[in-house]
Amino acid sequence: MTELEREAAALQERFGQPRGQPGPVAFTVSPLGGVVATLTVGVASAVVALQGAQVLSWVPRQDQPDVLWCSPLSRLGLGKPVRGGIPVCWPWFGPHADAALALPAHGFVRAVPWAVESADLRPGTASVTFAVSLTAAQQAVAGDVRARLRVNLGSDLEIELITTNNGAVPVSLTEALHTYFAIGDIGAVSVAGLAGQTYLDQLTGLDATQSGAITFDQETDRIYWDTSGKILRIQDEALGRSIDIGASGSASTVIWNPWHEKAVRLGDMPPDGYRTMLCAETANVGPRNAVSIAPGDTHTLAARFKSAKI
Ligand code: BG6
Repeated sequence: MTELEREAAALQERFGQPRGQPGPVAFTVSPLGGVVATLTVGVASAVVALQGAQVLSWVPRQDQPDVLWCSPLSRLGLGKPVRGGIPVCWPWFGPHADAALALPAHGFVRAVPWAVESADLRPGTASVTFAVSLTAAQQAVAGDVRARLRVNLGSDLEIELITTNNGAVPVSLTEALHTYFAIGDIGAVSVAGLAGQTYLDQLTGLDATQSGAITFDQETDRIYWDTSGKILRIQDEALGRSIDIGASGSASTVIWNPWHEKAVRLGDMPPDGYRTMLCAETANVGPRNAVSIAPGDTHTLAARFKSAKI
């Protein structure tokens, strides 16, 4: 038995078989090279890597393609986040506000192992909860905060990123559930729900206002501010499906597609991979939508995805 197989077996023993019954969650070694939890409820399944508590796959019905996109070039266990699924950006989104600290983009926890905290089955819903703590050096930068990620699989998929401030002073943070959706063709997809919203175009540094639905014919990297309560719809004519994205505890939405040149520069994405993915990120981006958490308090950022045939 390899070390990864031993880890998967120990988790299976502890969380995978409550009361001796086959449980809602199975722990195995993924072909990508790390331990994953597979949740199954009826015809729906989801796969979550312990590395980064990163959801890698969500198939709501077996006759449907995966709703999440994952780069065929990514592997687990290389100290890099997987390019795809739902990376967890925490406790900051994008580059750190203090460039002099030379910290990694999108926070500390995308490529580190998270601990499994619990696995439960309620009628119609399987859930698994992961937790991660910061080191003392990381706390010196980000505060005494702890994150839990809860994945709830039913007929829809719900992800909750729960931050607790264990320190004695308020903490301000930014964050994102950086979801890569699988689409049929980037040229035949639209994202509705943000008309009239102000956004920062990260490519030009300019502010703009969204008119109508978002469509794509070039690299796109936008932070939409103050999007609380908005429901987005990805309308995918090529795959004949829609994906609705609901959220709570989220005040920003990020829309990203690297297009061809940046996909090549990234190195962990096939050059034409940008055609079949689209990131629609449920976020709180600073400075405008940073979250402040009082000592002892908790903040939950949640995303809910619903997929349907059109
Ligand atoms: C998006 C950002 O959220 O993530 C982009 O808006 C960034 O600017 C992208 O390029 C991917 O980031 P990374 O660190 O996963 O390459």
